[in-house]
Amino acid sequence: MTEHFFAPCPRGLEAVLAAELECLEATSIEILPGGVAFRGSWLTCYRANLESRIASRILWQVARNQYRSEADIYDITHRLSWPDWFEPRLTIKVNLAAIKCPLRSLDFLTLRIKDAICDKFRTIRGKRPDIDTTTPDIRIHGFLDARQFTLYLDTSGEALFKRGLRQTQGDAPLRENLAAGILALAGWHPGIPLLDPMCGSGTLLLEAAQIACQIAPGARRQFAFENLKLFDANSWKKLKQTAANRQRERIFQSIYGSDLYGNALVNARNNLATAGLAECVALKQANVLEISPPAETGMLISNPPYGVRVGDHQTLAEFYPQLGNVLKQRFSGWQAFLLTADPLLAKSIRLTPSRRTPLFNGALECRLLEYRLVAGSMRREKPPNESSKNSHKL
Ligand SMILES: C[S@@+](CC[C@H](N)C(=O)[O-])C[C@H]1O[C@@H](n2cnc3c(N)ncnc32)[C@H](O)[C@@H]1O
Repeated sequence: MTEHFFAPCPRGLEAVLAAELECLEATSIEILPGGVAFRGSWLTCYRANLESRIASRILWQVARNQYRSEADIYDITHRLSWPDWFEPRLTIKVNLAAIKCPLRSLDFLTLRIKDAICDKFRTIRGKRPDIDTTTPDIRIHGFLDARQFTLYLDTSGEALFKRGLRQTQGDAPLRENLAAGILALAGWHPGIPLLDPMCGSGTLLLEAAQIACQIAPGARRQFAFENLKLFDANSWKKLKQTAANRQRERIFQSIYGSDLYGNALVNARNNLATAGLAECVALKQANVLEISPPAETGMLISNPPYGVRVGDHQTLAEFYPQLGNVLKQRFSGWQAFLLTADPLLAKSIRLTPSRRTPLFNGALECRLLEYRLVAGSMRREKPPNESSKNSHKL
């Protein structure tokens, strides 16, 4: 038996999420704006929750019908066999989103969905679930377009970018699934030297180290599907065990990080240590404008300071051209990927990107700019170093 699922993700990562889900044995994969629809068994659903680095959630589609009125929304929801799926002692929360919905009040419709679920429980079980808008056991997501009403039961619970790991964060941390998506878009894989010279709390480094050690991103957290009546605890235990057996030894992975500020480095170090990955990454305090590449070739992937949340316009207007010079003069043979929400960066860095990918960091619209720093055509100030941890001359 296969079920329909939908995996939302940060916009811009749909294609890399589809490729990831294919590797996790999802079928009938369909790329949609803001996510990927797929089919699969419950085991596929468990696996996607445990292993997807890019999805924000895995939603189980429980209804998809045409609607015209508020009463239709109530009836479609009420027809479903909610008491077969979870116990009324669990708390619930209903979220509703809409595009081109002709009905007037989304708040009223949200209330009708909640009423329909509670009425069904009261009729069948004599009691109803309570509402909890902050930490519900069960989340229900509705989506309305001009004609169709789709209802999902959220199998993840907390969003999947919450890996149950991060302890401390800096001023403008990336979401973990965006960081993983950037690594996928860049085509990074373990073995390619990776440098984030403005690493902040180290999100990109942490995701890369987890990929290198083959650590399932959900290994340390719980999921909402564990609350469902149809939860198959045995299969889940086996799946987690298989993932745990696959993990690799924590050794240095040619992953390098640096930041100008000591407190950012403290955050990155704490986060890596909490994940048991301190050994995999070399960290140093350094100004990106003074660094040398730690290897002959590799990928520099970073999220430089930008005007919206960190840094100020004048400082950045001077910083970006200097950053461009460092890349040109010292990083020939490398590929650089810079995620920025600041249009000034692309203009003033004075390098021509070979690719620009629109991406969203939460609500913030960004671009991932790719630069191929071709060897030979640029002046090199210092010879590149060996790709060993000790030669990390940042
Ligand atoms: C947008 S934040 C990066 C956030 C990071 N990706 C994370 O997930 O936490 C930009 C970082 O650049 C660092 N930075 C600013 N100027 C720098 C410089 N000249 N050299 C190195 N790092 C710098 C800041 O300290 C900050 O941590």
